[in-house]
Amino acid sequence: MTTPTKKITVIGATGQIGRQLVSLLGNRGHDVTAASRRTGVDLFTGQGLDDALAEAEVVIDVINSAAPDDSSEAFFKQAAATLSAAAAKAGVGHYVVLSIVGADEMAAEAGYIRGKVAQENAAESSGLPWTVLRATQFHELAEPITESLIIGEEVRAPEALIQPIDSVEVTAILARIAVSQPLNTIHNVGGPQKMTFSDMARAVLRHQSRMLTVVDDPSATYSGLEIDYTTLVTDDEAELGTLRLTDWLTRR
Ligand SMILES: NC(=O)c1ccc[n+]([C@@H]2O[C@H](COP(=O)([O-])OP(=O)(O)OC[C@H]3O[C@@H](n4cnc5c(N)ncnc54)[C@H](OP(=O)(O)O)[C@@H]3O)[C@@H](O)[C@H]2O)c1
Repeated sequence: MTTPTKKITVIGATGQIGRQLVSLLGNRGHDVTAASRRTGVDLFTGQGLDDALAEAEVVIDVINSAAPDDSSEAFFKQAAATLSAAAAKAGVGHYVVLSIVGADEMAAEAGYIRGKVAQENAAESSGLPWTVLRATQFHELAEPITESLIIGEEVRAPEALIQPIDSVEVTAILARIAVSQPLNTIHNVGGPQKMTFSDMARAVLRHQSRMLTVVDDPSATYSGLEIDYTTLVTDDEAELGTLRLTDWLTRR
């Protein structure tokens, strides 16, 4: 069965996910408006937004803040409020947001995450049909996270699980959600394997042929966030990707 084509606005269209999404939806015949500041659409100020949403049946918010620090909270809150109001004014039929697994659990810890939760809440409280897709950490983060845990000759890993996922698979799921009936709830997706931070670090170091010692450290944090053992991983209900981190590292 073929899906009818839709008019879809992607906001954050020049980013890592946005670029792939615009191309995937366009290749499937959908009428895609690619929006970001580089195309004259600013979600912070609202500039260009009404035009970008004109006649849109679906809007997908995949923006990101320039700096993942506490200033992100105000950025995401303002951008989400602007988009929610404009999408309601335009009568958009499906408001889709990409967020992070465990966002609610981590919100007390960091402004960036509080911003992501505000972005989710804006869709939910917009009065429009909505879906939030929460994804686990992309494979692209495995190397930078490992790097951030190195102290001297050791990798000091938080005692927690992580579940890296292929961003291409996340994009495909977002594209599927965008052209399906709104779920009006949060849908979680994670990578195929739950692994400890130390297992992830060992996989990265093996791939990089580096001989550092990996140590579980109860005081280590994930980018300054004190996380519980299962904060970053999905529950049993979640959808799972298929590409394993080690295969992604090899293929890249
Ligand atoms: N990395 C992960 O592991 C992970 C996991 C789960 C969820 N996510 C979420 O995935 C989302 C997308 O991430 P990404 O890596 O694709 O981000 P990215 O590559 O940093 O792209 C961000 C996009 O936002 C646009 N943007 C920034 N400020 C804007 C503004 N004021 N108005 C309009 N557009 C604006 C940027 O374009 P311009 O500069 O042209 O405006 C760019 O297109 C993020 O919200 C992130 O939280 C990430």
